[in-house]
Amino acid sequence: MSDLFPVPPDFAARAHVDAAAYENLYGRSLDDNQGFWREQAGFLDWIKPFTKVSDTRFDPDDLRIRWFADGTLNASVNCIDRHLPAKADLPAILWEGDASDERRTVTWGQLSDRVNRLANVLKSLGVAKGDVVTIYLPVIPEAFVAMMACVRIGAVHSVVFSGFSAEALANRIADAGAKVLITADEGKRGGRAVPLKRNADEALTSQPGVAHVVVVRRTGAPVPFSPGRDLWYEDALAAAQPWCEPVEVGAEDPLFILYTSGSTGKPKGLVHTTGGYLVHAGTSWKTIFDWHPGDVFWCTADVGWVTAHTYKIYGPLLNGATSVLFEGVPTWPDSSRWWSIIERYRVAIFYTAPTALRSLMREGEGPVRRHDLSSLRVLGSVGEPINPEAWRWYHSVIGAGRCPIVDTYWQTETGAVLLVPIPGAIPNKPGMAAKPYFGIRPVVVDAQGNRLDGVAEGNMCFEGSWPGQARTILHDHERFIRTYFAPYPGLFFTGDGVRRDEDGYYRISGRVDDVINVSGHRLGTVELESAISSHRAVAESAVVGFPHDLKGQGVFAYVTLKDGITESEELRKELVAWVRARIGPIASPDVIQWAPALPKNRAGKILRRILAKVAANDFENFGDTSTVADPAVVGDIVQSRKDTL
Ligand code: WTA
Repeated sequence: MSDLFPVPPDFAARAHVDAAAYENLYGRSLDDNQGFWREQAGFLDWIKPFTKVSDTRFDPDDLRIRWFADGTLNASVNCIDRHLPAKADLPAILWEGDASDERRTVTWGQLSDRVNRLANVLKSLGVAKGDVVTIYLPVIPEAFVAMMACVRIGAVHSVVFSGFSAEALANRIADAGAKVLITADEGKRGGRAVPLKRNADEALTSQPGVAHVVVVRRTGAPVPFSPGRDLWYEDALAAAQPWCEPVEVGAEDPLFILYTSGSTGKPKGLVHTTGGYLVHAGTSWKTIFDWHPGDVFWCTADVGWVTAHTYKIYGPLLNGATSVLFEGVPTWPDSSRWWSIIERYRVAIFYTAPTALRSLMREGEGPVRRHDLSSLRVLGSVGEPINPEAWRWYHSVIGAGRCPIVDTYWQTETGAVLLVPIPGAIPNKPGMAAKPYFGIRPVVVDAQGNRLDGVAEGNMCFEGSWPGQARTILHDHERFIRTYFAPYPGLFFTGDGVRRDEDGYYRISGRVDDVINVSGHRLGTVELESAISSHRAVAESAVVGFPHDLKGQGVFAYVTLKDGITESEELRKELVAWVRARIGPIASPDVIQWAPALPKNRAGKILRRILAKVAANDFENFGDTSTVADPAVVGDIVQSRKDTL
């Protein structure tokens, strides 16, 4: 038990949930699940109250996920209007740009004004309830405004990470059928400009269905402009009416789509609905970060990921909390940038990803010591398992040993948190997402689907629904069922491996499917392979993850070239650039290993298990290789790898 970090008593004393309250409420949330969530749903302002809490069944033949279904509401009213007029002049967003002298405060009143005007602009462009608007913006307040303007009129936002390429953007626009795109002239990251409008224009050459593009002037750089199709955000807002009547939507009407990678090539558009998502996001945000009025919150995630949707945008807005929004990167202009921001805004709750901590850790304590971090009360982690070494650094150097670490385990699919050490209640163990959130029933199963009790290692599943979970994959409900509910009937399968210890704490070990987690970003190996294999020189490729000091996992690509093409350093570079252009810089292969052939079974399936071992420089423990159709191929791969080391 030496690894147990008790809850600091003074922290527990003023926490929303202490140990006793957790036991009590968790028990109740399972025994009286309907009553528990009914009470939680009281957190929202409903237009028409719901009569029935849930109707759910994890049966692959009859899947049902419905929460608060006959209730109606409007998300933007819950996120903004209800904090007015009381908070009109108080800050909602404290924005700091990529350059440290660029700052803006957006009050609740200003936010409301922008949202209402943009909602009217969208309406005038023909956007109606249920239509999808794609948002391709940097981390600027206009991203909040854009999302809120959509939901004000019942439209559905689909935010695409601004680091994605034109091609990735085009695919997501096409899948969602968006008719309007909201983007910016450029983004700024680490002193460099990101050509968003240029990417958008390129994407739109194949997407004539997008009739209008609203362009935010972020840097003011000259960019191509198509009159009739494009309009400047500021001009359009200035001309728009300042009030837009919020549209009443049903709890089960879609709120947003968010794309994520899966184990097949095509990214999945997860669909989240309004009532359940907002209840889970809003109530869990306050509980797991133990937010109290006055606490400044900062989540470093990019607006393109679910982490930002739930816990940077919806969670704080629903609670009327002030958040820091930072456009740039932690290491620019130097590696004390984040710490300077915490000091400047007196951040109380800081939520980030292990990959960033690992890279900052390398810089030592110097950059941290230059700043006063005494405002911090709670530290959060998300996106990948946090290794105990990074955990300890976070706890002792950033949190000065005072701040509990909230290691939040969840997914784009789950909408909000499932496992988390609630900070006033659950003692920390480094690297463990610890215990279930209220209403959540974790189940560990073996490969055959047997439920394992006590100390166990297996696949992470959950039993019984929770309100924030995604309802379907856009246009592919069958894939939704097949991926999450068919593997272990009666359960939701996450795709992650897990270990439960003697104290009933859970430690997520990482993906057990063909998804790799690179710097907290999910990448499907098949998606990467299709990108590589679309290059004219490539006959075939196979991608696996391998242990990477900073990224957690890196991208390792085995590439077989077409006959007559010779391996070269130029070709290697060209392939890396090719993948960046197809998907985006986050997908850049770290290693490209030429392979004369790939090991396959007799059915022609690539044996990634063996390739992953070789990528990790483990040349011995291949296990059963009797299924390899041509064993000589394995020897050749091992030899080529050893030759490059
Ligand atoms: C991983 C991000 C361990 C996991 C919210 C999951 C984690 C995937 C944690 C979802 C954590 C996320 N500990 N692993 N605290 N949080 N993961 O959809 O593999 O971008 O399946 O959602 O990230 O990534 P996604």
